[in-house]
Amino acid sequence: MAPDASDPELRISAGAIRLRKGGVPVVCLTAYTYPVARLLDGHVDLLLVGDSVAMVLHGHKTTLGASLEMMIAHGQAVIRGSARACVVVDMPAGSYEATPRQAVASARRIVGETGCQAVKLEGGVTVARQIAAIVAAGIPVMGHIGLQPQSVESDGGYRIKGRTEENVAALYRDAEAVEKAGAFSVVIEGTVETVAADLTRHISIPTIGIGASGDCDGQILVIDDMVGLTVDRVPKFVKQYADLRSVILQAAASYAAEVRSRTFPGPAHVFSTAADNDKE
Ligand code: KIV
Repeated sequence: MAPDASDPELRISAGAIRLRKGGVPVVCLTAYTYPVARLLDGHVDLLLVGDSVAMVLHGHKTTLGASLEMMIAHGQAVIRGSARACVVVDMPAGSYEATPRQAVASARRIVGETGCQAVKLEGGVTVARQIAAIVAAGIPVMGHIGLQPQSVESDGGYRIKGRTEENVAALYRDAEAVEKAGAFSVVIEGTVETVAADLTRHISIPTIGIGASGDCDGQILVIDDMVGLTVDRVPKFVKQYADLRSVILQAAASYAAEVRSRTFPGPAHVFSTAADNDKE
């Protein structure tokens, strides 16, 4: 049965996630499509429609390939496929950095057109005014500090954060800025383990780790990495819980062989003139 995506009573709110600081870890995964959201909804607290969708499903080299329209289309699909999880949609690069006014307009569009519970944006001190403005407009915001995929080109690649004193100090400033601006939680990505653990103890909002620390208040992975569907490089911090790539390759090879040998379709997959043969 399709989930009742329209009943707000069933949803885990951003406020409920905020209260999970120091408690049972918050289980988060990315989701981009209706069927995957349906499969994950019963197992996670939070589904992130990450701008990683641009790379994972659309084949872009970086997350800079994501657009507002792309995020909204995938956000709508994930909302339709879930009833319980708190759904957070990423704000794509270019949709919020310029001014708080731009950020509020984009966040309103995302929430208005998808019905998601919150938005996420990358950055700390530099986007604190944007976070505060979106929160003041009544939209919960998840922050994202540490390694920020939207900045990998300007940063010279995927560089782990927290390896120099200067960088650790910057991470503290970012975490404090995001907390003070009113975010309900913050993703810490690609950061030295001890630094991520210390940041988790330092701020009062839940930290969600990815390539960070087991001491974070929750964890997130990209769904395609977690189930072994990723065709290109898989980051060190990913644990693969399944090997769907092999399952799909095996299925495709069997299908191709059966079509070529005229084994498929067989009698069970074709229609005769008798109506009761049409039952699925
Ligand atoms: O876009 C994304 O999938 C993310 C997660 C990796 C946190 O931001």
